[in-house]
Amino acid sequence: KVVAVIMVGGPTKGTRFRPLSLNIPKPLFPLAGQPMVHHPIAACKSIPNLAQIFLIGFYEEREFALYVSAISNELKVPVRYLKEDKPHGSAGGLYSFRDQIMEDGPSLIFLLNCDVCCSFPLPEMLEAHRRYGGIGTLLVIKVSAESASQFGELVADPVTKELLHYTEKPETFVSDLINCGVYVFTPDIFTAIQNVSTQRKDRANLRRLSSFESLQPATKSLPVDFVRLDQDILSPLAGKRQFYTYETMDFWEQIKTPGMSLKCSGLYLSQFRITSPNVLARGDGMKSPFVAGDVYIHPSAKIHPTAKIGPNVSISANARIGAGARLISCIILDGVEIKENAVVIHSIVGWKSSIGTWSRVQGEGDYNAKLGITILGEAVTVEDEVIVINSIVLPNKTLNSVIRVSADH
Ligand code: GDD
Repeated sequence: KVVAVIMVGGPTKGTRFRPLSLNIPKPLFPLAGQPMVHHPIAACKSIPNLAQIFLIGFYEEREFALYVSAISNELKVPVRYLKEDKPHGSAGGLYSFRDQIMEDGPSLIFLLNCDVCCSFPLPEMLEAHRRYGGIGTLLVIKVSAESASQFGELVADPVTKELLHYTEKPETFVSDLINCGVYVFTPDIFTAIQNVSTQRKDRANLRRLSSFESLQPATKSLPVDFVRLDQDILSPLAGKRQFYTYETMDFWEQIKTPGMSLKCSGLYLSQFRITSPNVLARGDGMKSPFVAGDVYIHPSAKIHPTAKIGPNVSISANARIGAGARLISCIILDGVEIKENAVVIHSIVGWKSSIGTWSRVQGEGDYNAKLGITILGEAVTVEDEVIVINSIVLPNKTLNSVIRVSADH
């Protein structure tokens, strides 16, 4: 048997995702019309003999209850949310629920970060892992040398694929091969995590007993049960024939900011074209709106046939889009109203916001930049004939004149 664990973090994380994370836990923010966490969960369907999926986080249970019960029914695989009382780090979180995770006696455990966007080649990783042996196999990808330092950089043996060296977010360049945050482990991972805690306890005891202590400034040590997978496990165990790597040639992105969520929404929409084309909207501009490229429209959304939508547009429940409106590269959240002839480009429009006639809400479309897209928080009103460019607008604001924030200021 195999189980899958998805790390969802908690409210103290995801601060770069504001103001969108003020309303909803980041893992539930919709990408391509589905909660962010839905994409890794759906990918777990392709794991043979999958017994259970666990979500581990420190959000309140009730925030995930509805989604978890809906997705369990849909996938016909039990999905459970396990709440940590406090953050334990990526490995510590896994360890704190070892009894539940090991309940069905799985021989393998998948561990996935919820804030990555990729094709999740899980069956391929499983096959590679079986070939390599070892405690675990991590998904890796080559990125540009400039961007590598935002991630765990690593060196792998070109032939055996063994993980030889690992450094988390190094200041000086190590390698353009990085950790994708998707792993498969044997249950021996729990022993490795336990060893880190034990060593910390021993060291703390030694320090207490040591006569040097009064002479040395006390070094700040981490709590014994706070263990990070990257720094505390992968770094020290690299080069010891315990971990191996599987390189993906497919797409991969990390989703820390609203800009990246817009980019990843588009990546998932284009993946749907291959995996589930029936989810995508089709429209010819006669009875339905004109649809260009990959677009998701919730069945309850009402869109005027003269509107033109796409590419990379996701429209959530109960949105209303008026005659002649033009939407390109945007996420329109629940209950939004976009009036006649309004234009929305490279933007995220928050829940129940309203955009007036002939208005224009636009970002420049640099998804990596801080102000590369425009974001309207919940219940923002953009009055008629108003232009909003490269701005982040906090919830409940009314905009009635031209707003333009340049990324340079
Ligand atoms: N449940 C729980 N508890 N989840 C956590 C905790 C915790 O204490 N800490 C982090 N997470 C979750 C986050 O929500 C995220 O999904 C994942 O674990 C990793 O988060 P971080 O540990 O903050 O690391 P990161 O996202 O900056 O970088 C990691 O992922 C990159 C790939 O996206 C590292 O492993 C990098 O090396 C890697 O490149």
